[in-house]
Amino acid sequence: MTSSSKEAIAERLAETRRRTLELIAPLDDEQLNRVYSSLLSPLAWDLGHIANFEELWLVRTIGDREPLHGELGRLYDAIENPRRTRGELPILRDAELRAYLAEVRERTLEVLTEADIGADVGDPLLRDGFVYEMLIAHEQQHNETMLQLLQMVDGYEVPRGTGHLSPGQASGQLARRFEYPPVQEMPRASGTVRIDTGSYGIGAPANGFAYDNERPRHTVELAPFEIDSWPVTNGEYARFIEDTGAEPPLYWERDGEDWIRTAMGRRDPVDPAQPVIHVSWHEADSFARWAGKRLPTEQEWEAAYDRLEGVGETWEWTASDFLAYRGFEPFPYREYSEVFFGGAYKVLRGGSWATQLNVMRPSFRNWDLPERRQIFAGIRCARDGA
Ligand SMILES: [Fe+2]
Repeated sequence: MTSSSKEAIAERLAETRRRTLELIAPLDDEQLNRVYSSLLSPLAWDLGHIANFEELWLVRTIGDREPLHGELGRLYDAIENPRRTRGELPILRDAELRAYLAEVRERTLEVLTEADIGADVGDPLLRDGFVYEMLIAHEQQHNETMLQLLQMVDGYEVPRGTGHLSPGQASGQLARRFEYPPVQEMPRASGTVRIDTGSYGIGAPANGFAYDNERPRHTVELAPFEIDSWPVTNGEYARFIEDTGAEPPLYWERDGEDWIRTAMGRRDPVDPAQPVIHVSWHEADSFARWAGKRLPTEQEWEAAYDRLEGVGETWEWTASDFLAYRGFEPFPYREYSEVFFGGAYKVLRGGSWATQLNVMRPSFRNWDLPERRQIFAGIRCARDGA
């Protein structure tokens, strides 16, 4: 790989880090360390985990170097340390934490200058810079997790601007994706897309960056179905609440006859035209049944992807359990996907306003527990076709 490609990787690493630091710039150390919810890590844990994951892969694994802080990595292991315990761990904090982020990055860049990351390298971790793509995506995905917690910080304002997008992407609908609250004006046609019976390609192609759970690409046979062009709106969800007595989404409060949103300590009217967000899988499933429809399977969602509107404002719960595709091979480590396969987690597709574009692709599979509401998740309905 040429030095200019390495420069491009270094620049993308730097751009991703700028975004991370921009997110926390308005916060003091007390806020970074505070446990706001047992369902979410304190921000200091996310930051240390980002640096530690980078040290593990880009410094220790690729560069064969010793860690800066001995066995510190155990504290940042996401599986060993459930979120409810992370506030109590003796993790790095304050100036020490900032120094760790910077020192790891310095070593990462040293190792990058020596690394062989061409297209014909034997090690799949290095081939085409896979491990660097993985690290960039990891940090970007943690930005979204951090934004979930930042909903609870009174007075927090999500930084505006689209500095993390490459110039060709920073236009129109995509650029607006990153403003908060989402400002995309949607033509509210209540259309549906009809998908005919047939064979559909599912999953990521063999080349290019993707996670192990998106492969191998394969074909599925689908029966005909219809899927809504647009995600379910706040207005539609409010009618569901009136009709059934269902719980309102997270951060909704009654204000007389109306609903208001209370995230980040603000009290804004709920916009009936925007997609509903912060609902659990159980609520999404109930809504779909109430509407005489159902949630799409993840295969249906992916088959219909090109014809859907509104993708990218909210993750969309699907009917599917998070399972391995036939022929799945764990890479580069079992704990990314394999340990989550089974019936416990439901697949979400698409991406939310808080998801960075680099992470969004038709084959990307997000997953979470069906009771989770703090994630930026909403609903799109489907039904069997004739
Ligand atoms: Fe992580």
